[in-house]
Amino acid sequence: MQIQDNVFVVTGGGSGLGAATVRALAAGGAKVVIVDRDADAGQAVAKESGGAFVRADVTDEGSVQKMYEFAARLGGLRGVINCAGVAPAEKVIGKSGVHAMASFSRTLQINVAGTFNVLRFAAEIMAGQEVFGDGERGVIINTASIAAFDGQVGQTAYAASKGAIVAMTLPLVDGDVNPHKSGGVRCRRRREIRHRSASGYQGNDGESVDAGRVVGSP
Ligand SMILES: NC(=O)c1ccc[n+]([C@@H]2O[C@H](COP(=O)([O-])OP(=O)(O)OC[C@H]3O[C@@H](n4cnc5c(N)ncnc54)[C@H](O)[C@@H]3O)[C@@H](O)[C@H]2O)c1
Repeated sequence: MQIQDNVFVVTGGGSGLGAATVRALAAGGAKVVIVDRDADAGQAVAKESGGAFVRADVTDEGSVQKMYEFAARLGGLRGVINCAGVAPAEKVIGKSGVHAMASFSRTLQINVAGTFNVLRFAAEIMAGQEVFGDGERGVIINTASIAAFDGQVGQTAYAASKGAIVAMTLPLVDGDVNPHKSGGVRCRRRREIRHRSASGYQGNDGESVDAGRVVGSP
């Protein structure tokens, strides 16, 4: 993957993992689009890294589409890294009562629907691009968590959301984003990865893969 002078979108780029990803890509000479709903945080990382900040809520269709329109002006889209997420702690039966539906739904809305909203447009854009010199049209990275397989007390909503991110990545790898080709999205590590979960996952080629570490790129 050629990073120098290429365009990468990082959601949640204003903090934590997203900000670290922005810094790493910027250090490699990438044109980074930092996406965050927190304008102060996003702008601070943009100033420090030399990237461009676009304020957007990952769950909002219109603002995500506008963000991609901005990114297109910088060049072909080489990578989208989904780091935006929330991790609330709330017990199903806590001291102040039963788990709120609003907080459960919000966690799934941001972590699952937000990730999906960002990746679906990325997949559409990348599928329409010419293959770059390294044989790829682009890379999409989704961020799950060990909580997808081993959620802790107070992580019901978070664990459900991260499990969903793992689950939805598999049909992407198996062809959801490219109906014209039998192979769909190529999974680089499919042959290398051995399953870690009890049930595992049987890929189309008969290999067992670790769903939590699947990486797909069109
Ligand atoms: N920190 C960890 O130990 C850890 C472990 C495993 C997985 N993760 C995952 O890594 C990702 C990043 O975690 P982090 O610790 O860096 O979090 P963080 O809170 O430091 O950063 C998350 C960023 O996402 C942004 N964000 C939240 N909701 C948004 C929305 N709707 N639209 C746009 N931006 C939004 C926030 O403003 C924030 O800047 C998350 O998906 C998290 O679940 C983190």
